[in-house]
Amino acid sequence: IKNIGVLTSGGDAPGMNAAIRAVVRAAIYYELQVTGILRGYEGLINGDFISMDRKSVANIIQRGGTILKTARSDDFRTKQGRQKAYEQLKANQIDALIVIGGDGTFTGANLFVQEFNFPVIGLPGTIDNDLAGTDFTIGYDTAINTVINAVDKIRDTAESHDRLFIVEVMGRDSGLIALRSGIGAGAEAILIPEAKTGIDGLVTRLEHGRKDKASKIVIVAEGDDAGGAFKVGEVLREKFPSYDIRVSVLGHIQRGGKPTCMDRVLASRFGVAAVEGLIQGKSGEMIGQVNREIRFTPFGQAIKHINAEEISPAWLKLVEILSL
Ligand code: F6P
Repeated sequence: IKNIGVLTSGGDAPGMNAAIRAVVRAAIYYELQVTGILRGYEGLINGDFISMDRKSVANIIQRGGTILKTARSDDFRTKQGRQKAYEQLKANQIDALIVIGGDGTFTGANLFVQEFNFPVIGLPGTIDNDLAGTDFTIGYDTAINTVINAVDKIRDTAESHDRLFIVEVMGRDSGLIALRSGIGAGAEAILIPEAKTGIDGLVTRLEHGRKDKASKIVIVAEGDDAGGAFKVGEVLREKFPSYDIRVSVLGHIQRGGKPTCMDRVLASRFGVAAVEGLIQGKSGEMIGQVNREIRFTPFGQAIKHINAEEISPAWLKLVEILSL
């Protein structure tokens, strides 16, 4: 391997820049060239390439977003799109790829490796933490800290006005942001797709909950079957007419901002390990960290969305016990 291409794809996540920096610096350390690919697979298909050196990644470790930009590419979902991407790589003498993203990114990468036998290593970069094969993805720690900071502020108003707040957090297919930030923010209840609590379960919880506590925080994952925070708000207003209820959707503030130290270190470790993995001949795998150790998981397994340990009855019971 002489020249490694690096791209970010899918939703941006804080810490992606730290990962790009680590990839570039590790490549230089091992005397390889590194090419930045702009706008994910879109840029790969269009040949949007920039050559990168030590200086092109200076002063970015602390920045949110991604200097390489990102996109969700429909073209890369097609065989013709992936064929074009392969031709661009060959024409530009790029012999291996490092892709930073989530399940969509790895689904595409998996097909690409199988079709062209081209070396690709993945770095988990998504705030959702919904990949198997790693305890944490890059961006998750920053996102849950953003959520608890926002909920702390909302709680001031909840307390002052004796209100019940329904706070919607991100997680299209996963309740992990809601679960951890709910515990960290001291929420009275959480609604996550994996728990199948549903609105009825939430109503029962609130009916049996403390009556003397007028302010309450309910965290709802965007992907929960209840149909979003506004829907939950409507139902609760009907069931509890005496409650003063407000809805707050946190939205994309969860995707931005300075990465936490945890995310910067995770990204740095992953970036270096990805380059070393390629040098050792690895391909078709995502890097993860499990019990502090670096681990490689085939793309096909990583995209299974399961972080089973965390969505276990024990974690859900934690929420129940702590909301007394
Ligand atoms: O990055 C993952 C995620 O934050 C999901 O939780 C969310 O549903 C989605 O991205 C929204 O992405 P976008 O606004 O870019 O379509």
